[in-house]
Amino acid sequence: MIAAHPAGQAFDAMADTYDDDFTQSHIGQAQRSVIMQDAFRIFHGRRRLLELNCGTGEDALRFAENGWRVLALDVSERMIACARVRRESIGTTENPQFRQVATEDLREVAGEFDGVFSNFSGLNCVRDLAPVAVALENKTTPGSSLLLCLSTRVCLWETAWYLLHGKPAKAFRRWTGRHQAMLQGMPVDVYYPTLSTLRSAFLPYFKLRSVRAIGLFVPPSYVESWVRKHPLLLRIFVRLDMVFSRLPLLRTLGDHMLLHLEKTGEVG
Ligand SMILES: C[S@@+](CC[C@H](N)C(=O)[O-])C[C@H]1O[C@@H](n2cnc3c(N)ncnc32)[C@H](O)[C@@H]1O
Repeated sequence: MIAAHPAGQAFDAMADTYDDDFTQSHIGQAQRSVIMQDAFRIFHGRRRLLELNCGTGEDALRFAENGWRVLALDVSERMIACARVRRESIGTTENPQFRQVATEDLREVAGEFDGVFSNFSGLNCVRDLAPVAVALENKTTPGSSLLLCLSTRVCLWETAWYLLHGKPAKAFRRWTGRHQAMLQGMPVDVYYPTLSTLRSAFLPYFKLRSVRAIGLFVPPSYVESWVRKHPLLLRIFVRLDMVFSRLPLLRTLGDHMLLHLEKTGEVG
């Protein structure tokens, strides 16, 4: 048990339904599958992965099944409990290791890693990512890769969707860079750093290798009920994302952006 953390308490309340609401949703699966294809390619040949904000362990379990040793952390006690139940249900108790640790407390974690993964916006709940970059520099071997998926500052789908639904405040909620979200009735500060802020936070320890949009044509998860009525459109959106997601400008206008950073080895 760690000291109460606002994001931890809010995500505790979401944990039991998180997989039904998001992991198993058509949109969640479409977005995750692109991220995991990149993750398998980028982490190929590496052995020890650190996963931040792992939620119910969907990705950590997949990495472990495919031979990686994984330490997976999350601030939410309930998310970690769900992840452990999932791990035990497949008959294993050691890999991945799941621990309740806030990303802000990374320096407390022992061990050295050659890859670091963070999926679906856990890092948007951390006010200042510069100390996280320093902690990751201390915990990684030279040449290590970071693969980080964060919510963008501007999501074209979100702005259009909420304007069409007559909700201008929601349409522009990310644009100031900070928004107090209500998750299960609990306030959580969410930060929307730009690509250039992220690049600066991770330099000089990590160099940006690539960026792509996740959910440029594929919509955000709250559009799930509409997508279920239009399955062919979702397939078309998946294809369009493959074509357009790496283009300059468009790569930062999706629901999320996926950053691949590599440890420079020049500092530290
Ligand atoms: C949207 S969920 C994503 C979960 C998982 N990565 C996935 O791909 O499904 C965001 C996760 O970030 C975690 N989180 C939020 N703030 C955090 C923090 N400061 N430190 C560690 N975990 C955090 C939440 O508890 C939640 O499990």
